[in-house]
Amino acid sequence: MSKFFKKCNRYYRFGEPTIAKNLGIYPYFHRIHGEQNPIVQMDDKDIIMLGSNNYLGMTSHPQVKQAAKDAIDVYGVGSTGSRLLNGTMDIHIELEERLAKFMGTDDCVVFSTGMQANLGAISALLSEKDEWIISDQQNHASIIDGIRLGRNNPKNKKIYDHCNMDSLAKCLKDTPKGKALIVTDGVFSMEGDLAKMNEIMDLAEDRDAGVYIDDAHAVGVIGPHGKGTAAHFDMVDKVHLTMGTFSKSFATVGGFVAANEQICNWLRHKARSFIFSASPPPATCATVLAILDIIEKDDSYRQKLLAIGDKMRKGLTDIGFDTGNSVTPIIPLVVGETRRTVKFFKKLFEHKPRGIFTNPVVHPATPKGRELIRTSYIATMTDEVTSEALDIFEVAGKDMKLI
Ligand SMILES: Cc1ncc(COP(=O)(O)O)c(C=O)c1O
Repeated sequence: MSKFFKKCNRYYRFGEPTIAKNLGIYPYFHRIHGEQNPIVQMDDKDIIMLGSNNYLGMTSHPQVKQAAKDAIDVYGVGSTGSRLLNGTMDIHIELEERLAKFMGTDDCVVFSTGMQANLGAISALLSEKDEWIISDQQNHASIIDGIRLGRNNPKNKKIYDHCNMDSLAKCLKDTPKGKALIVTDGVFSMEGDLAKMNEIMDLAEDRDAGVYIDDAHAVGVIGPHGKGTAAHFDMVDKVHLTMGTFSKSFATVGGFVAANEQICNWLRHKARSFIFSASPPPATCATVLAILDIIEKDDSYRQKLLAIGDKMRKGLTDIGFDTGNSVTPIIPLVVGETRRTVKFFKKLFEHKPRGIFTNPVVHPATPKGRELIRTSYIATMTDEVTSEALDIFEVAGKDMKLI
């Protein structure tokens, strides 16, 4: 093999994944058989699924599945091209119009993944050397990479301490007026806490800065009928861009940015991940349209999800876990050390008669010392299942001396 790949060889033999596999604590790539439901078949056993982003339980909704099948009959299975060229079908336009209406904006651009939405939109917006980007320390990796791809001076980047408004104010202080874009997750993906949008908006207005919210975990979950963070804070008219993904509440894959017509026109012609990648398959668009049909009329899935989140947050805190500042159905159990986090994952997963699948989150996905087990919930979970999960957390947490 070429020497170029020496690093791969070394990593294969001595890298952290191999060490973890040898210790029997490697937590990734467990295989799921069948549908993503509250109880999944994983590695040939029944497991309680607390590591999914299927917040509204829509992956298996009969109306949604039927809509995806019908779209295949009408449009075939794929678009085979970029939106700019042959990849714009009726259903892409219909979806953009529906999403714009849902999010309360003039317009919306649909991307093929949420990652691509952030990469494309943020890098396209950072087009001039003297522009600044101001980003929360715990923003998602796709935001971090979108910033890296920007054409502004790479030094014009400031990271403020997580949800710390003094730190944000300090970052903004020296930026020229009208030259900065503030970007924040609406609901933070690892700990389920909320951005302080009132304060962020005041600080932004003071510097005439743009505001971009990543609502991957907020759409479908917060705001009336799940319209997201801006709607939750009653500031839809003030926030300049809201990005969302289809890979969570919308139960499929894809992403979008909702904004005014001028900004969306800019993205359609400048966002490279939009221009140089094929558009989402019709069945994906139909899936999202069917879920919009459901949640625009019926808020009960979201209400159920919030109630489950409240029950679990209270239950886990009462047992003695540190659940951080979560106010959503993403609830972290802070462990604070990588190996213990992975061992806790394993203990939960291997619990008998059935275990729990969670997401072990370690550095760099979380700051060092804040390693955690991320739990998240599904609207279709029964009371029996959530109570069973609480019992398992108590047993495993005591075993690990975490509580
Ligand atoms: C906050 C946040 N933004 C963006 C993304 C990317 O979304 P997608 O899975 O659609 O690529 C994710 C996915 O995990 C996310 O959590």
